[in-house]
Amino acid sequence: MSFVAGWALLVLACTAAAEDLLIKGGTVVNADRQFQADVLIRDGLILRVEPDLQAERPGTRQLDARGMLVMPGGIDPHTHLAMPFMGQVACDDFYSQNLLLAACLSRSGHAAALAGGTTMHIDFVLPVAHDLLAGWAEWQRKAEAAVMDYGFHMAVTSWSKQVAADMQVIASRGVNSFKFFMAYKGALMVTDEQLLAGLRRCRQLGALAQVHAENGDAVAEGQARVFEAGVTGPEGHALSRPAALEGEATGRAIRLAEFAGAPLYVVHVMSRDAVEEVARARQRGVRVIGETVVSAISQEEGRLWDPDWDVAAQYVMSPPIRSREHAAALRAALAGGALQLVGTDHAVFNSTQKRVGRHDFRLIPNGVNGLEERMHVVWQELVNSGQLSPSDFVRVTSTAAAQIFNIYPRKGVIAPGSDADVILFDPLLEHSIAAATHHSAMDTNIYEGYRVQGKVVSTISRGQLVWHNGKLNITRGTGRFIPTPTFGPLFEGLDKRPEHLVDVARYGGVPVQRGSIEGKVEARDEL
Ligand code: URP
Ligand code: ZN
Ligand code: ZN
Repeated sequence: MSFVAGWALLVLACTAAAEDLLIKGGTVVNADRQFQADVLIRDGLILRVEPDLQAERPGTRQLDARGMLVMPGGIDPHTHLAMPFMGQVACDDFYSQNLLLAACLSRSGHAAALAGGTTMHIDFVLPVAHDLLAGWAEWQRKAEAAVMDYGFHMAVTSWSKQVAADMQVIASRGVNSFKFFMAYKGALMVTDEQLLAGLRRCRQLGALAQVHAENGDAVAEGQARVFEAGVTGPEGHALSRPAALEGEATGRAIRLAEFAGAPLYVVHVMSRDAVEEVARARQRGVRVIGETVVSAISQEEGRLWDPDWDVAAQYVMSPPIRSREHAAALRAALAGGALQLVGTDHAVFNSTQKRVGRHDFRLIPNGVNGLEERMHVVWQELVNSGQLSPSDFVRVTSTAAAQIFNIYPRKGVIAPGSDADVILFDPLLEHSIAAATHHSAMDTNIYEGYRVQGKVVSTISRGQLVWHNGKLNITRGTGRFIPTPTFGPLFEGLDKRPEHLVDVARYGGVPVQRGSIEGKVEARDEL
């Protein structure tokens, strides 16, 4: 037998011998219901979900889930790992290991996600010099080390025939969402004309158009005015981009999407103004999805006035974190269904990186953490307060993302045949969040000291127990790209709907018969 054939046999034998995992005695929580059942996992998939299951193979590993909730792993629809932005590179990458530290302590985006019960995330690929394919190549390289499943959205930051063509290429590689920035003037921002072209292209491709909705021209003007008035610190960030600018852009994007007949996904809804636009549009039947983020529902803008500059700067993100009233409106909108899901917008810059803006708030790299904290904070804010049921929690942290991005029921549910991405959650265990114990590469944490009742004690990623009783067990390069197919549920039946703001059908195909106006025009011209 050749060496290669022998090696192949060995690999095959090892794969076949992968142990089953049996989760016994827990309460399974899906988005539609919760029930008592055991869960048997084999070869990375959920094999059975039934009461009183027994091990079927020798060597099956059993997990005691009595008193625990057994839920689908979280899906974070909004992350920016290792993103070059505002002159810095976000310090959480997909995965890296610091070999100098004892026990190879791993601090990275993926380590943080898995420790916090998130088993898949969708990261935003940024074009390189507006080139989509170059951006794609960059993100392929970043994701080589991945230790968990991930998907990609693609940002579109300019418009040309080449961009339109490249969108098709990117879609064929497994990306069904394209993001347009209506802010970050002079960098990522697109004009309304470009956005409209992008919306039409998204509809053609069966891809979901996403918007960062803030009026970028007004923000730039507001920033200049605030800075010239002498405000140089992080509070200038909140003062210069009020909620009205987010509401205006959200409404505008929705109207343009209606005009183009394209479904729309509004990322990081941070304000009452924006959520009201989403809610009104949904009421009139527009296919618009509203995503809020965990910082928006749990933090408040007063932190930007903290006398310690480093603390205040941690909270700089766009659109800004707003007042308590806005956070309450967002929580209510999640409970009431006007908003559909909660992401993180995890884009982290450590204190040294934030300090590049110490003399000018406009230069502070925008972004906050949340990948590790999202599941716990959403539980604390919404389930422990009685606003969401555990099933609703699963919906807003996992199932809705799987459905919207067209990977359900592969992801987002505990059911036979689904990927074995599962968390064991102890609803009674209390803990608090701290930078000293988190798994992100950040040196700070905007949730420092935040107390939670309820904790992810185990995370299973495609059948592997990767987080258990406070320890990570992850292997570089084991993460997989999960393609998101185009023409997802939001496109179902769309071709039957008129593009009702430009109702060409009303023309009826017969030109209106009119007499000539030439004579009238000449007679009038002579007067
Ligand atoms: O402040 C933020 N949100 N940083 C990440 C980039 C974006 O706008 O999503
Ligand atoms: Zn954004
Ligand atoms: Zn973002």
